[in-house]
Amino acid sequence: MAKLVGREALFPSIVSSYELESAGAMQQALLTVVQESVIETVNKGMFQTPGNLHHDSRLADFIGQVKAAIAEHFYFMRYDYEGFEITNCWGNLYRHLHSLTRHCHPNNFISGVYYVKAPRGSGAISFFDPRPQASVIDPEKTQFTPYNSGVVSVPPVEGRLLLFPSWLEHQVEFTVGDEARVSISFNAMLTGCFGASERFRTSRSAPA
Ligand SMILES: [Fe+2]
Repeated sequence: MAKLVGREALFPSIVSSYELESAGAMQQALLTVVQESVIETVNKGMFQTPGNLHHDSRLADFIGQVKAAIAEHFYFMRYDYEGFEITNCWGNLYRHLHSLTRHCHPNNFISGVYYVKAPRGSGAISFFDPRPQASVIDPEKTQFTPYNSGVVSVPPVEGRLLLFPSWLEHQVEFTVGDEARVSISFNAMLTGCFGASERFRTSRSAPA
């Protein structure tokens, strides 16, 4: 009889979740900003705002907390870096039967979403296994776990922030409730020098 002595989760894709301080007090301000600048995105079947909300002073507290969460995530990942910046930030509004198809966020390092309104019937965000070869043989499962699933769905929770790698493909499932699901998404990119110059993998030449 073989005795199990270890089991490793190799190459995991880390999704971190946070609750923000004063989330309740912030909700109305965030909702106002999204509602006043939302535009219909006909080709996507939902509504979005322009991608510059991070420059709106009413979101300063929110953006500060987003940056703190990103720094915490980077610490967990043990990244060594000079800095990072929010590159885009936009609001999303999903009404009945709205959804968003599978996509990722190119030209960024970390992405995230904050749930301003997540009433009953709000669509989940579903993340896809980034290893296409992992589904070549796909047996039935007695129970779905993070170790055997090709798709993992995370239901939205009001006041909660998710961070995920920008390359990790995801989609937003159908909202089936009558009330709008409102979220704020953002991207961030490393700034300055990152990577190891001695291994010719740096983002730019190190100073002479
Ligand atoms: Fe996305």
